Parts: sequence; C-alpha cells; structure tokens
Amino acid sequence: MSHKVVLAYSGGLDTSVAIKWLKEKYSLDVIAFTADIGNVPELSAIRQKALDLGAIKAVVIDAKETFVDSYVFPALQADAIYEGQYPLATALGRPLIAKLLVEIASKEGAVAVAHGCTGKGNDQVRMDVSVAALAPNLKVIAPAREWNMTREQTITYAQDQHIPIPITKASPYSIDENLWGRSIECGPLEDPWNEPPKDTFAWTRAVEDTPNEPSYLEIEFAGGVPTGLNGEPLAGPRLIQKTHELAGKHGVGRIDHVENRLVGIKSREIYEAPAAIVLLKAHKALEGLVLTKQQLRFKDKVAAEYADLIYNGLWFSGLRQDLAAYVASSQRYVTGTVRAKLFKGNCQIVGRKSPCSLYDYSLATYDQGDVFDQTAAPGFIHLWGLPVKIQARAQSLFRGQD
Ligand code: ARG
Repeated sequence: MSHKVVLAYSGGLDTSVAIKWLKEKYSLDVIAFTADIGNVPELSAIRQKALDLGAIKAVVIDAKETFVDSYVFPALQADAIYEGQYPLATALGRPLIAKLLVEIASKEGAVAVAHGCTGKGNDQVRMDVSVAALAPNLKVIAPAREWNMTREQTITYAQDQHIPIPITKASPYSIDENLWGRSIECGPLEDPWNEPPKDTFAWTRAVEDTPNEPSYLEIEFAGGVPTGLNGEPLAGPRLIQKTHELAGKHGVGRIDHVENRLVGIKSREIYEAPAAIVLLKAHKALEGLVLTKQQLRFKDKVAAEYADLIYNGLWFSGLRQDLAAYVASSQRYVTGTVRAKLFKGNCQIVGRKSPCSLYDYSLATYDQGDVFDQTAAPGFIHLWGLPVKIQARAQSLFRGQD
C-alpha cells in the first residue's frame, strides 16, 4: 500500500524540490495542494508543474472568500498590526492553508502533511502549531527544514533534478503574496541600511511616479466590515482588489520594517499592503467616531495582543477565540462611511460619518447652538483635581522641582 502526503505547494523553489525529495527520502506519494488566497499567478501552470514533477494529484482550492471573511476581516475588525507596522498578510494566510491541508489529508487518507517553510522563520511555527491544533496526531514534514541546504545548494539540486526554478541569481528575493499584502525578503534587503531597490516593489508606485492629482475613496462599513466603495456594494475580495489598485497607484502601502521574529532574530522586511493600510486606517477612523474613549483605549490593548497571537502562530487557540468574541461585540455600531484621500504615498482620512456617531455637534461647537454647560466645569475640575491638591498639601512633592 502506498503512503500519501499532502504538500502545501506554491510552485516556488523549495516546494518544487520537496515533491522529489519527499518521494526520495520518505517514499511518499505527494498530493500537491495550492490554496488561492489571492495574487497567485497562473494557477493551472502551478498545478501542471506539480504533476510534471511527479505529484500523483494536484488540488487547487479557491479560498479567497474564506480568507477574507474568516481571517482578514476579523483581523481588520481587531485593528491587528504587528509592531505597529505589519498588517500580517502572510501570518493570516498560514492558519487557513494549514486548515485546508488537514481537511485534504483526512479526505485522501494521507499519513502526513508537508510544507516548504525553513527552520528560521515564523511560518514553520504557524503551520506546525495550526496542524497540531486541528489534527493533534497528524505528522508534519518540513523538507526545507530537514534538508539543510543553502539557497544556492537548493538551486543546484533543482538544476540537477531538472526542476524549472523561478528565482535566478538576478532576482534574489523571497516573496510571499496574498490579497492582504506582499512580503519581500533576502538579497540586498538583508542590510537594513540599504534602501530597497526599485525591483523590490510590484504593487505600489514610487512616489516620484504617482499622479499629481489626489484620488478620493469612500469606504462603507457595516458592523466593522467594509461593504462598499464610492457607493458601490462589493464583496470582500473585489473590494480589497479595487482599493489595492487605487492606493498602489498613489504609492500608498510601502512598509520597511525591522521585525522581531518569533524565533528570536530581527529581520528586515519590506511589505506592500496598499489595501490593508487604507482599510485599517479607515476602520480606525470610524471606530474613533462610534466607540467611547474607554472602549478605544481597551481595544488598543486587545489589538496588540491579537496581532501578537496571529504573528506567533496561535490563530487556533482559546485566547484568540476569546478575543475574537470581544472584538465582534465591539463592532456592533461600527457602521458608516469614511473618506480617504490618496496622494503622493499618503492615505489621509479626511471625512467620516455614521448613523451611530457619538460626535455631538451641539456639544462640540464654539459657535451658536452650543449646549455644553460651561458652569458645570468648575465643579468637575474641583473634584478631578482634589487628590492632587490633597497630596500637594501632605507630601510637598514638587518643592524645588519641575
Ligand atoms: N515576515 C513575514 C511574517 O513572518 C513574512 C514572511 C514570509 N515572507 C517571505 N518572503 N517568504 O509573517
């Protein structure tokens, strides 16, 4: 009886080599699985390549809608950005890919699943831990972590095995893309002092090349989820794609981040996430209108924790579920429209409105129609400052000091 392994297959160097290697080293028949979570080029070519390399079956699943509805938008509702910079595109994709791998493995009666992550990155953690959460007894094989070849050696191995390879010495980058963002690593980027060369970028224009007129984008939200652009209702993947195109044209969404990996090292990462940057900013602006000060302060803490959980491979954890329930509750009134101005690499929020707005013109205005009771202010200040006054009398904290 032959044994099967389901391999998460991207068509790139490592996973292509892995098809041959799993057969050679483990005598396993490989079922290649490719998830389409956006921006996967030539899916049918990837499928064919897997078969040409000896996979017994090649499965492609369009998971864009699931990715957006169940991973990207919940993270958007949470305002999850890792270390204040990275919108977590890759980190959000991994748990979904792991989930689909597990499902296919169970359907196909496979004895193991496999992925192309190296032993140095975060992705191996996300894949392994997600599989462990969903199928605690399923074996995970990570060929690129086991074979211990350098990039050069992997290329040589691929050449020897007649595996067509997408990277050449002229393009030294390691790239991961899905519809929430693009990440670029390696080559000249490994020196954090080097400005990213022009060919790092594929989704966003350099500011020098952006239009001289701004574009405006009105984003409608319902319950914290973006539902339309400029008055046109759109499903998630399409909405993200349209935002991406317009923001990318204006050079919005380039991120240069020296990031703290889970495995203990710092790495220099370049991201392009035009849609994520615009939608995260717009979402936060709307929250600013409909959530109280206390809700906003608490949500900031949840956002940081939520981002860490996603980054650290703990999507399928009890705490992530708990926080998701909090976030869902916080979004009940995050309904309305935000206007963003895209110009010369910037996304500026220039307008927001909501039927659930807490902004009260008659309380805020300095013009006619002011209903704010200024005679209540001295009493409030008297009580607010009372502990300070008592402490000053009793402890002379500030004598001779600033
Ligand atoms: N640093 C990012 C993360 O840990 C992206 C990693 C994948 N990027 C790549 N070029 N292979 O989520």
